[in-house]
Amino acid sequence: MRGYQLVSTPAVDYQAEDAVISQGVVESNHTGYTGTGFVNYDNLVGSYVEWTVPAAAAGNATLDLRYANGTTVNRPMDIAVNGTVVAANRSFNPTGAWTTWATSSMTVPLAAGANTIRATATTANGGPNVDKISIS
Ligand code: GCU
Ligand code: CA
Ligand code: CA
Repeated sequence: MRGYQLVSTPAVDYQAEDAVISQGVVESNHTGYTGTGFVNYDNLVGSYVEWTVPAAAAGNATLDLRYANGTTVNRPMDIAVNGTVVAANRSFNPTGAWTTWATSSMTVPLAAGANTIRATATTANGGPNVDKISIS
């Protein structure tokens, strides 16, 4: 008789276009996004997307943020969970084209119940275009 322990959690997607958006617009003019589009951040400091993510129990989770940056410069953002910045000025480096999407992975601490996860642009260039986050 053998026992098995579940060691991985299936990823759950949360689309940017379905989240709360401050100073950004939902667009679909660059291919390769998932869902129905992506968020084009206004090019200024403070534009953000905020998702609400449930967690069954408190603990660390992996956050994968899918983005495109068709410029030649970094578009950093602060990643905040429940109002606390957990990754300051996280880099979202050029992906080569607005139609080329990359995933940036980080560990985030979640509380039991509903969590807010906010990605806020920290430079006057605004954020990258953001497709979704995946939590696992
Ligand atoms: C272009 C591109 C947008 C992008 C913007 C930017 O206008 O089409 O999707 O958000 O550049 O530089 O932020
Ligand atoms: Ca933009
Ligand atoms: Ca999307």
